[in-house]
Amino acid sequence: ESKIVILGIETSCDETSAAVLLNGSDLRSHIISSQIKTHQKYGGVVPEIASREHSLHFQPVVQQALDEAELTFKDLSAIAVTYGPGLVGSLLVGVSGAKAMAYAAGVPLIGINHLEAHVYANFLEHQDLEFPLLALLVSGGHTHLILFEAHGRYKVLGHTRDDAAGEALDKVARTLGLAYPGGPQIQRVAQEGDAQAFKFPRAMLEADSLDFSFSGMKSAVLNTLNSARMRGETLSVPDIAASFQQAVVDVLVHKTLMAINRTRVKTLLLAGGVAANKLLRETLDRTLAERGVRLVYPSPIFCTDNGAMIAAAGYYHYLEGDFAPWTLNAVPGLGF
Ligand code: KG4
Ligand code: ZN
Repeated sequence: ESKIVILGIETSCDETSAAVLLNGSDLRSHIISSQIKTHQKYGGVVPEIASREHSLHFQPVVQQALDEAELTFKDLSAIAVTYGPGLVGSLLVGVSGAKAMAYAAGVPLIGINHLEAHVYANFLEHQDLEFPLLALLVSGGHTHLILFEAHGRYKVLGHTRDDAAGEALDKVARTLGLAYPGGPQIQRVAQEGDAQAFKFPRAMLEADSLDFSFSGMKSAVLNTLNSARMRGETLSVPDIAASFQQAVVDVLVHKTLMAINRTRVKTLLLAGGVAANKLLRETLDRTLAERGVRLVYPSPIFCTDNGAMIAAAGYYHYLEGDFAPWTLNAVPGLGF
């Protein structure tokens, strides 16, 4: 029986991560070095600091992943690395490092689209997924509804026209004085809040559109906060957090149901950092169960940026013989 061993590497934003994956689902090691603490004092990711941190941590993280898997470069079938989208300096650390290692070890290189990998995080823990699959990708940089007809064959049905869902949560959190990244903080304080306290708008756009728009919803919150401040009032942070979280989830669920009705898929994959959100999971769980649609989502550790999802996507590219040339470059604006 042949073994396919993929080393997955992720450096697109503020996580340096490497994982060794055997045959697509047997995770032999998974190292994540997070820079969140470093960026927290600036309220967001500082690109220049991020690339320097990746340079410092790249080699030790990769070495630790190999050591924990009790493997060397010679045992690898391929090295898969994120080449976009993301911060150019951060991506370049991963891409150049992976190229150098793959070339030196004589193993093939696989270039991975970070967005696709978020969706493939679902295959790590579920081997029984059957196409067609609908994916809701909600992260700090992206909000997409994607129809997967087969491995590597997908269509974007809708996407955000401005802010991503996570970005809007992060910005509102920042204004509320909550730490970066804001999504988990909003979720935490919202537990003590009343989701009906504020009637924030739900941007649904044109009736037949599967696109999203979170910028106006975010501005509505900021305006509410500013005018209260001018009146010398202080509003309840938990109430604002709960009401805004509810508004974001309402829109995500509404558009997802529209996409399900339109495509008649039987399985929805949640993906991206915001997929870790408890309200979103619970609401989808309930509404999809009523419609006989299966909801699948990765464990929280595989929702935010990680090397395992890169290896998971890499595995399917490997099976298709889809390798990257040595000229592979970082593509910061890579789309679907
Ligand atoms: O996928 P990810 O790690 O990075 C990108 O590719 O963007 O997503 C990060 C985003 C951030 O906006 C963060 O606030 C959000 O995911 N996030 C959450 C939760 N955990 C992370 N949002 C809501 N609820 C959560 N539990
Ligand atoms: Zn991501």
